[in-house]
Amino acid sequence: MGGTSLVVPVILQDTTVVRPPTMRTLWRFLRWMIQTDPRYSIVLLVLQFATGLLPAASIWVMRALFDRSLAVYEGNLPVEDMLVWIALWVVLALAHEVFRLELFFLLVDRLKQELEDRLLTQLQRKASVLRLETFERADFHDVLRRAQEAASPGFFLSLIGEIHTIITGMLTVVSVALVVGLWNPLLLIAIALVSVPPPLARVLQEKNTFYLKREQTQRERLRAYLERILTERAAAKEVRVFNLGSSLLGWWGYLYWQVADRLFQQKRSQTLVNIFLASFSLAGLAAGIGWSAWAVANGGLSPGQFAAMMVALQQVSTHVDLVFWRFGYLANRLLYVADLFTYLDLGPEEPKDGVPIDNVGEIPIAATSLSFRYPQAERPAIDDISFTIQPGERVALVGANGSGKTSLVKVLLGLFHPTQGKVLYGDVDLNRMDRNGLWDQSAAVFQDYTRFAFSLGENIGLGRTERMGDQAAVERAAHQGGAAPIAEQLPERYHTLLTKEFAGGTELSGGEWQRVAISRGFMRNASLIVLDEPTASLDPQAEADVFRRFLAMSGERTTIVVSHRLGSARLCDRILVLKEGRLLENGTHGELLSQGGEYARLWALQAQWYGEGEGGR
Ligand SMILES: Nc1ncnc2c1ncn2[C@@H]1O[C@H](COP(=O)(O)OP(=O)(O)OP(=O)(O)O)[C@@H](O)[C@H]1O
Ligand SMILES: [Mg+2]
Repeated sequence: MGGTSLVVPVILQDTTVVRPPTMRTLWRFLRWMIQTDPRYSIVLLVLQFATGLLPAASIWVMRALFDRSLAVYEGNLPVEDMLVWIALWVVLALAHEVFRLELFFLLVDRLKQELEDRLLTQLQRKASVLRLETFERADFHDVLRRAQEAASPGFFLSLIGEIHTIITGMLTVVSVALVVGLWNPLLLIAIALVSVPPPLARVLQEKNTFYLKREQTQRERLRAYLERILTERAAAKEVRVFNLGSSLLGWWGYLYWQVADRLFQQKRSQTLVNIFLASFSLAGLAAGIGWSAWAVANGGLSPGQFAAMMVALQQVSTHVDLVFWRFGYLANRLLYVADLFTYLDLGPEEPKDGVPIDNVGEIPIAATSLSFRYPQAERPAIDDISFTIQPGERVALVGANGSGKTSLVKVLLGLFHPTQGKVLYGDVDLNRMDRNGLWDQSAAVFQDYTRFAFSLGENIGLGRTERMGDQAAVERAAHQGGAAPIAEQLPERYHTLLTKEFAGGTELSGGEWQRVAISRGFMRNASLIVLDEPTASLDPQAEADVFRRFLAMSGERTTIVVSHRLGSARLCDRILVLKEGRLLENGTHGELLSQGGEYARLWALQAQWYGEGEGGR
């Protein structure tokens, strides 16, 4: 069912998988666990060691019981002599039960809570300090997604459970083998025959399983994505209009069968190997039993030892199986832990404690030979740009789609770090500045602003959370940004929930949303205003209103506006024209027109469209 002739998007095609170091991750996790709560972790580990040794001790006691019961049966020993061994057996069994069923879960529950708490805190802290560029990387989202899985409820519980099974299982195997080996070293060979082949196979199989599992996690993410676009509200219209349903389903099936086919093939060959090895083990077991029976007949082994050995063989094979079976799970889970650590190690982080600047509106902002390239991008989005913006100046950025306008404003705001050159606020390099201080004094309305699933008032008030409850401030901002008329039409005015995904919500049009985003910008008492196409979806009247209010407000504020509508750009003091990441022209509307360059060309083009009787097409 491969469906290989299907044309699939690039994202569904194969990617290489790198295997993280399993053992190193395991050690690091154990260290991390002990650091989180040294007391509980160490008690847990000590108890695990003790439980691992218990089966060997019981076998020792069992053998004494068997031999003594025979002696009692033959009349060579008073029956009271067995009592102390029975008592010992009871103590061992009780210790095992108490720990396995009660203490273990008590300890692990507490540890789990602490690990989850520490992890979530660290995950959030990391997301808040990582440089914004990191979020532009696809591999970052892969890692983040898997790191979050490690934080899902129950993850640590089963992880610790698996480590527990493995530690106690291995100790059991080794100690039981030693006890039996003390009676007769040849028995060790029988034990080895029974226990070694299956784990050997598992070790080999585990490697293949890893690659398959890892590929699966990527594909599962993709499948989840496809399922989402098939069902989500935002995509539903395009799915219908472009008739995407069958293609999306086809890709979904393609992914599904790619994984399923390979899983099945792998399972098939593993099953054959495992059947063969199981037979081999059983043969070893039979040989061991036969040989022991023969040894009992010859007096080389006591009947108690024979009986105890049967139990020992059983114990060993059960535990070996358990250990390796669980090891497969553990290795898989450790992949997520490895991602978790990869995530927590991610850098670079935003610099802390920069130079504070408290008068952003009163100092010039300069770019000197500024370049910026997105992570994993081939060419720079901004290429060797230099200019200065005077305090209080209103600057327009114009240029074709993809010319670097949005990237430039993000670099100017310190959201992205220049790959070359610098941004200066006054004479301080933005890299050394306290960015939080800068953001406190700026208002930015981005092209891809966020539509929060909160009320209208909250959507605006979020521009300045400490004044979110100040209705007068919210309404003032709404008036300035053009959202006030929207409130008039909503059933609960500013308290209306702006989403359809929760009950009682409503939805706004694209242009209405944009007015909300602009109003959010107006919430701030900012001395630097950055507007990235704030009016793209606004009707001409709304656009004119917004600009009029902007210009009335600016003067003591520095304003940077990105706009494709040159009519708006014209109202600014100066215009910067970008093309393919480079600064092509820099001057006032009049200067640029008389230069007769790119701006003049674009102006003529728009004038043709809007102009009367000039017959443009
Ligand atoms: N996240 C990203 N990762 C990689 N490259 C990007 C990313 N965002 C933008 N680019 C690239 O950087 C260049 C500049 O993009 P930018 O968004 O700055 O253009 P723009 O001038 O704002 O365009 P528009 O008018 O369409 O908004 C484009 O070539 C684009 O392909
Ligand atoms: Mg843009």
